[in-house]
This record gives sequence, C-alpha cells and structure tokens, in this order.
Amino acid sequence: MQEELKKRKRKAKASRMASTSTSPTSAAAAAAAGAAAGAAAAAAASHALARFGLHGKRALVTGGTKGIGRAVVEELALLGAEVFTCSRTARELEAALAEWRSRGLLVEGAAADVSTPEGREGLLRAYADSFEGEARLDILINNVGTNVKKPSAEYTKGDYDRVFGTNLESVVALTALAHPLLKRGAEASRREQKAGGERAATAAVGAAPEASAVVLVSSVAGGPPSMRSGSLYAATKAALDQLARNWACEWARDGIRVTAVRPFYIDTPLAAGVVGDPAQLAQVLAATPSRRVGSPQDVAGVVAFLCSRASAHVTGETVAVDGGYLAAGFWPE
Ligand SMILES: NC(=O)c1ccc[n+]([C@@H]2O[C@H](COP(=O)([O-])OP(=O)(O)OC[C@H]3O[C@@H](n4cnc5c(N)ncnc54)[C@H](OP(=O)(O)O)[C@@H]3O)[C@@H](O)[C@H]2O)c1
Repeated sequence: MQEELKKRKRKAKASRMASTSTSPTSAAAAAAAGAAAGAAAAAAASHALARFGLHGKRALVTGGTKGIGRAVVEELALLGAEVFTCSRTARELEAALAEWRSRGLLVEGAAADVSTPEGREGLLRAYADSFEGEARLDILINNVGTNVKKPSAEYTKGDYDRVFGTNLESVVALTALAHPLLKRGAEASRREQKAGGERAATAAVGAAPEASAVVLVSSVAGGPPSMRSGSLYAATKAALDQLARNWACEWARDGIRVTAVRPFYIDTPLAAGVVGDPAQLAQVLAATPSRRVGSPQDVAGVVAFLCSRASAHVTGETVAVDGGYLAAGFWPE
C-alpha cells in the first residue's frame, strides 16, 4: 500500500516537472501529460453527466420559492432538468421565475395551493399545458409541509386539518394524480433508452433501466426517536416514510422509484423560530454531531442524487440529512 502510494507520488512529481520544463523533449512530455489530463477530465465530465445529470428529465417540485424547495428547484435545473414549481404567493413565484430565467435555468411555474383539491388539479393542468405534446413526468418532489406546535392535548380540528391536509393528504392526492404521468415518463425514458441517443450513455455505466422518481420530503421528526416537533407534524412525517415504502413496492412494476429524505433542522423560513433563537439553536447544535444547522442545499444534493441514474437501485428508502442527529445516542460534549 505504502509502496504503491510512493510510486504514484513519484509519477505525479515527474509529470509536474515535465510540464514546467522547457527542453523540446520535456515539452513533448508536457504536451502528452496535458492531453492525458484533458482526456481524463473529459471522461470524468461525461461519466458525471451520465450518472448524475438530469438532462431531458421533467420535474415537478411543490413549494419552490423558499427554503428546501427553492434549493431543490435550482439543484435539479442546474443538473439539466426542466423544472415546474408552485407556491401560493403569485408575486413571490413570479420574482423567483424571473431570477431563474435570468440565470438561464429552465424553470416554469404556477401559483397553486397543494393542500386543496382545486389547487392540485390546477397545478397538474398548468404543468400539462406547459407541454406541446403528450405530458409526461420524470421526477415529482413532494416538498410542501407545515407545522403547528402546541401541547398535544390542545390541538383543534382546525390544527389537525391544516397539518394533515398540507403534509399528508396533499402528498397522497397529488402523487395519485401524477401517477399516470410518472408511469408515462418511465415508459418514454425506457423507449428512448432502448432506441439509443443521449440516454444510451447510461449503458456505459450500468444497464439499469430508466425510471421515474418520486421523493417525499419527510423529517427526522417521523422517528423512531421522538423530538419536540409537535406531535401532529411527527405523525404526518412518519406516515410519509411508510408511504415511500408502500409506493416503492407497488409502483416498481410501473418503473417508478419512491424515496424520502428526512432532514433535521435546516436553515429555512419554516425553521426560523428555532434556528433564529440562540437558546434553541444551542440545543439543536448540541444534538447534532456535525455541530451545524443544515442548509437547504444539503437537502437538495441528496434529493438530486435520489432522482439520478446513480441511485437506480434505491427505492423505498428514507435518507436522513441530519448531521448525525439520528445516529447519536449519548454524546455530550
Ligand atoms: N426547515 C426544516 O428545518 C425542516 C426540517 C425537516 C423537514 N422539513 C420539511 O421540508 C419541507 C420544506 O420545508 P421548508 O423549511 O423549506 O419550508 P418553508 O421555508 O416554509 O418553504 C415552504 C415553501 O412551500 C410553499 N408552500 C407552503 N405551503 C404551500 C401550499 N399549501 N401550496 C403550495 N406551496 C406551498 C411556500 O410558499 P408560499 O408560502 O408562498 O406558498 C414556500 O415556497 C417541509 O415538508 C418540511 O416539513 C423542514
């Protein structure tokens, strides 16, 4: 092992010297080393594109103007996907769309409240209308969520309806509405994969068949350990984890993978009450082995991976994005 390492270091040093020397022989060696480095970089870029790139994919992300949803929209679009998103506040959505367009990102959207049947139907209609031909969907990110924190015995029917309607019913209903589009997306991708073309690059890195991807934005509040998140919120997130497992098995035959991510505290407007309060922030950091609060981009990277060909054999799984919170038992400083 040591010998191999030394050999590699000697080789790298020789190549560095060749590229800085000026004699004709070393100039040729430098050119050869440069060409080899260029070829390696091109191979790496092409491999990354085939494994992690989302070119040609159509994605729908709920709640994309702030926090985690916004980071997911940007991550997917930067990786090449065409993204459609929504929020309830039309003005904020328009401002976000204008910013994304100015950056050259392919993002469209519609104002919609996914906690209502009309909002969900309107969103899918607007999404389908954005197509010239028959609509298909390759990626659905169920991101929208809300919370009402109270002592459990004080929850009202209104609180229950708000938390369950936004976090659970909206996900169940929107995903059911989107299911035919996701199935069509998987069928179309597989046809394209068979016919060759851009997506045939997949064959070079593994023969996994193309699939559509659904990702649910759950939370570590879903357990097993309990946390001071509000018990209704916790119950909806536990339900999402179980939905991911059930849907993964039921829809594997349709070419649809279903996964979930479970963040601990992430620096977003939803978590501002906790993250912005020094005393509560200190408690959060003490429970987080990485000793930092997550960023929306920390979650977006994992979501993108779960949509990519690199995760082709992952389904039914819930991935924590929590700086080690769930792994920690008793680790006081
Ligand atoms: N932040 C955290 O610490 C954390 C931790 C674990 C899990 N999560 C989960 O991550 C997800 C996103 O949280 P976040 O912190 O990014 O939230 P956020 O900062 O409140 O952002 C929510 C986004 O969704 C939109 N939205 C909210 N309700 C909507 C509705 N009914 N219909 C359409 N759009 C809606 C919001 O825009 P409008 O208000 O304009 O509609 C906004 O764009 C949630 O499911 C949450 O439970 C968050």
